Amino acid sequence: MSFNLLPAKNGEEPTMQFLLEVVDILTNYVKKTFDRSTKVLDFHHPHQLLEGIEGFNLELSDQPESLEQILVDCRDTLKYGVRTGHPRFFNQLSSGLDIIGLAGEWLTSTANTNMFTYEIAPVFVLMEQLTLKKMREMIGWPNGEGDGLFSPGGAISNMYSVMIARYKYFPEVKTKGMSAAPRLVLFTSEHSHYSIKKAGAALGFGTDNVILLSTDERGRVIPADLEAKILDAKQKGYVPLFVNATAGSTVYGAFDPISEIADICEKYNLWLHVDGAWGGGLLMSRKHRHKLNGIERANSVTWNPHKMMGVPLQCSAILVREKGILAGCNSMCAGYLFQPDKQYDVTYDTGDKAIQCGRHVDIFKFWLMWKAKGTAGFEQHIDKCLDLSQYLYNKIKNREGYEMVFDGVPQHTNVCFWYIPPSLRGMPDGDERREKLHRVAPKIKAMMMESGTTMVGYQPQGNKVNFFRMVVSNPSATQSDIDFLIDEIERLGHDL
Ligand SMILES: Cc1ncc(COP(=O)(O)O)c(C=O)c1O
Repeated sequence: MSFNLLPAKNGEEPTMQFLLEVVDILTNYVKKTFDRSTKVLDFHHPHQLLEGIEGFNLELSDQPESLEQILVDCRDTLKYGVRTGHPRFFNQLSSGLDIIGLAGEWLTSTANTNMFTYEIAPVFVLMEQLTLKKMREMIGWPNGEGDGLFSPGGAISNMYSVMIARYKYFPEVKTKGMSAAPRLVLFTSEHSHYSIKKAGAALGFGTDNVILLSTDERGRVIPADLEAKILDAKQKGYVPLFVNATAGSTVYGAFDPISEIADICEKYNLWLHVDGAWGGGLLMSRKHRHKLNGIERANSVTWNPHKMMGVPLQCSAILVREKGILAGCNSMCAGYLFQPDKQYDVTYDTGDKAIQCGRHVDIFKFWLMWKAKGTAGFEQHIDKCLDLSQYLYNKIKNREGYEMVFDGVPQHTNVCFWYIPPSLRGMPDGDERREKLHRVAPKIKAMMMESGTTMVGYQPQGNKVNFFRMVVSNPSATQSDIDFLIDEIERLGHDL
């Protein structure tokens, strides 16, 4: 029974035994995750899991369950989940299972502390500050000066950027609300992540005031369209405030031309944010960082180590060029938490800069991985993932039964393509073919999940019917896994 565990009297022995058994379950899971003969997932519909499978009961119990049952619950939870570290899991931008990162997360949970004050998280707070500085240096801000925070994900980091932009130009909104500002508009690419629009809604701008910018055929913002839309907004009497440039878009992996966008932002005095949630990691690669040229001119940057850099979820940074603005925007100076008369330098109490109160320790696993790999290790990982996606691109670009969604070598690891089953290959383009093709990727994906062999994402985009979006961020993937994915798509899709 769990009441035998610490802090119960004589609880050391049962606690050690229990934790060792948990470790056994976890390490078995880790080993199997890297074994290609293990399935990526054992798919069940929600109603099946809710009804209970082979004794796995999700219902909460009134009475305590035995520790044996708790261990079974741990095993079952992993059994019916998805192995996102499996070498053939390509479904999400965040994937992989980094052993050092895992150890870091375990240590973090063991320490079970809160990032809001130096008082209770002295080591983690300093690690966060040093790591953010290093990231700012990589962005190219002089001496790594500036500000930042780890937040609960890229969407929230993007929201921070909109908040601080508004604070910079209209600080009185903090106290008086939106009535203290004119009608403000935000600009972002039609290919950008939906979190910019969501920030517009959540922060009281309204989604109608988030203006979508046109892109070229590769999904990159057309700077002239930005300028035209700024002028149009001004003419209507609105006040342009903020531009988001995406470095690595979610579906196409496109990098907006940051320098050209920065020129326009300077000309019209607008806040420039770079959403590098997905592409920020490329700053670590000497070979690929040129894709973010101009990022040093941004006012703020989102960068998610939990995507391209394989850090366990969650780990996302909002980085800001101007020091102090995060605190200015968000601080409420709650006297019961951020007492100004503590015995240490209270500028290390960073919690009031955040919109949260309590904040999870996201830094430690990242810091530990950086120590273990070095910057060189991250660079190798990123270069390898980009090489693998190029391998995939080269393999399918002229292969029978494939059509690329856009021409040319992808900028990031995103490879977007249609698989055309033999039954559609001779069919002339038109509504019928489009409707049929739209159904191909979801059908293949469903069969993939039922057989549990691999996972890859699909979506429509604009007027383009459903296509596969392959991404590589998983350090365990090799060319053979890419080959496997293609074989599997063909095996499952051949007769559609
Ligand atoms: C470009 C981009 N920005 C922001 C996000 C949101 O990041 P998160 O899922 O960490 O909130 C994503 C997620 O895929 C993304 O691709």
